[in-house]
Amino acid sequence: MKTGPGDLMLVNNLTQVSGRTGSNEFHPTRPAPENENNGFKLAGGILGAIGGTPLVPLQKIFAPSPFNCFAKLESLNPGGSSKDRPSVAIIERALQTGEIDSDTLIVESSSGNTGIGLAQVCAYHGLRFRCLIDPKVTQQNVDILKAYGAEIEMIEHPDPETGEILPTKLKRIDEILKSVKNSFWVDQYASPENSGAHYRSTVKEILRDLDGRMLDYLFIATATCGTIRGCLDYLLDHGFPTKVIAVDALGSQIFSNAKHARVIPGLGSGICPKLTPTDGVHKVVHVTALDCVVGCRRLARTEAILAGGSSGGVISAIERMSNEIPEGSTAVALLPDRGERYLDSIYSDEWVRNNLGDIAHHWTKVEEKV
Ligand SMILES: Cc1ncc(COP(=O)(O)O)c(C=O)c1O
Repeated sequence: MKTGPGDLMLVNNLTQVSGRTGSNEFHPTRPAPENENNGFKLAGGILGAIGGTPLVPLQKIFAPSPFNCFAKLESLNPGGSSKDRPSVAIIERALQTGEIDSDTLIVESSSGNTGIGLAQVCAYHGLRFRCLIDPKVTQQNVDILKAYGAEIEMIEHPDPETGEILPTKLKRIDEILKSVKNSFWVDQYASPENSGAHYRSTVKEILRDLDGRMLDYLFIATATCGTIRGCLDYLLDHGFPTKVIAVDALGSQIFSNAKHARVIPGLGSGICPKLTPTDGVHKVVHVTALDCVVGCRRLARTEAILAGGSSGGVISAIERMSNEIPEGSTAVALLPDRGERYLDSIYSDEWVRNNLGDIAHHWTKVEEKV
């Protein structure tokens, strides 16, 4: 159990963050005043289509339900995920400040959505991008990265001392930065633009689309914490009483020390990111891979939304908390990406059997519910 950022209490996988504690000295997301309302100002062409994703009512999956639930479909960003927002913000900010130019080698470690988001932005701007991937990457993601023209470097071996792949990746990034004079590390785990992109756009869009309804609950999946940090800071700075729920993977190091293997891409982290909110999170719900699978499949069969693994975790978290959401409240589920890239995993019975054991029993129960 972690103390420090917030007071955490683990209760049946629900981590209660009690109140606002201490001062929040690291304020990475607050944009400079001249950037207020400057969502994706520079973005042209396809990049201008980033953000402004739809908010759709979920009328079936929790029915009958005393509260209203909406889903924000980040899958409808052109690169397919919420990571388009920080990708364009980080690169265009660095272009604006002169940190990068047309000759810069941009480097990041990602086997998923961030890599794809950056590959898209760099392709549009004609920039060189090298993506460090690891053996867990899917062939489809490699193919997408290649299609955008990204350079790909596979980091095969975990660090011999810790058995983790992250230190090896960080070491390699350090080597690249030292050996290539004009190079730039995106550093999504610490970049103020990661959370800043969400601060400037995501909650504003939700509030606009809720058309005067109060946003009572906001459910957000966590990895780098860019999304939750940006949304939460915006809500706190503007005095909204919204209860923000962090949905994290069981075994993730963000809000807990109970470390074990995680199999859902993009959910949870092996480190506690610098962007982790230190206060203001109402509750942390830890979900299992099976929660993600069940949530995804129910979402596809009831609402006809084919979403990625972390979205399934968000749906299961809402389900788990549904008894404590007061009648008439409005909840929003931020769904980070689309399901097509998970047909070989989340939506494959064979993968589920091989990786999570036989879930037929659970699945039958879920089907009865639907
Ligand atoms: C599928 C998916 N869900 C959730 C997240 C978490 O977003 P964040 O990094 O902003 O915490 C990510 C981030 O990569 C992701 O790819």
